[in-house]
Amino acid sequence: SAAPPNASPAHLFPTLALAERAPAKVNLTLRVLGRRADGYHELSSLVAFAGTGDRLALLPGDDLALHLDGPGAGALAADPDNLVLRAARALAERVPGLRLGRFTLLKRLPVAAGIGGGSADAAAALRLLARANGIAADDPRLAGAALATGSDVPACLYGRSCLMEGRGESLTPVALPRFGAVLVNPRVPVSTADIFRALAIPPGTRHGVTSPFPAGAPRGALLDWLRAEPNDLEAPARTLVPVLDEVEAALRATPGAELVRMSGSGATMFALYENCRVAAGAARIVAGAHPTWWVKSTVLG
Ligand code: C5P
Repeated sequence: SAAPPNASPAHLFPTLALAERAPAKVNLTLRVLGRRADGYHELSSLVAFAGTGDRLALLPGDDLALHLDGPGAGALAADPDNLVLRAARALAERVPGLRLGRFTLLKRLPVAAGIGGGSADAAAALRLLARANGIAADDPRLAGAALATGSDVPACLYGRSCLMEGRGESLTPVALPRFGAVLVNPRVPVSTADIFRALAIPPGTRHGVTSPFPAGAPRGALLDWLRAEPNDLEAPARTLVPVLDEVEAALRATPGAELVRMSGSGATMFALYENCRVAAGAARIVAGAHPTWWVKSTVLG
C-alpha cells in the first residue's frame, strides 16, 4: 500500500488520544550465564530495536480497557493477561490515583515470536500512562512496573540499543551502527518458559563467560564479536521448532547476509545487511519462496 510503514489508520486513533510506537526488539546476542535461586536465568544480551513494530494509543479516562486491531489482533485476546493491561495495573499499584483510559493496540508483530511484541506493547502502555499523568520518564515506579510485567519490558521501556544483564533489569546504553535487517517468523509460536526449561540448568548455578562488548569498534570488528557471541537459546529452540533450520538456510542464502541468528527465545530469526536496500532485496527473495512465513525488512540499531 502507499501508506508509510508506521502510519496509523486515523479512525483507530481519535484526536485527544496519545500514541506511541512499540518497536520490535532484537537480541543480537543472548548469553545465558547461569540460573538464579529464584529460577530466573542470568543473562547478558545485546539488544537493538527495529524500525518496525506495533502501535498503541491511549484515550485517557477513568476506566481501563483494551481494543485490538491490525493483522495480528486475531492471535491475541484483550483479556486481563494481555501485557498492556498487566503493565497498566502494575503502574496503578505503584501510583495512587493513576488516570487510566482506553488503549487501542494496532498489532502488527507476530505473537510469541522472540521479538518482544508483548513487551514492547507493555512498555508503550507505560510511556502513554506516564505522559497522561505527568510522570517523569526516569521515575523509578515506571521501571518497577516494567520489571513486574516481564523481563524484557525494562529494555523496551528504554527503547534504544543497550546491553541487558541480570534477569533484564540491568541496562547499559551502547552505540551501534545502523544495519539493514530482515526478520523472519515461520508462524510457529514459542513459549519462552519452555525454551528456558529445556536448558535444564539447576537454580543457583553460575557458568559461562562472555567477552565484553567492543565499545567503539568499527563495523567489521563488531560483526566479528557478534559472530562469536551466540544466542544460547537457539539450540533448545531448534529442538522444539525444527523449521528453524529451514529459516536459517533461507536467510543465509540471501545475497549480503552478514549475520544470521535467532532473536530471544524464537522463533523469529534475523539477518543483518549492509543497509536497508540490500535487506529489502533479501526480504523479497525469502517472502517469494516462503509465502506462509512472516517476512519483514527493516532498519536496526
Ligand atoms: O519475565 P517473563 O515473564 O517475560 O519471563 C517468561 C518466562 O521466561 C519466565 O517465567 C521464566 O521461565 C523465563 N525466563 C527466565 N529467565 C529470564 C527471563 C525469562 O528463566 N531472564
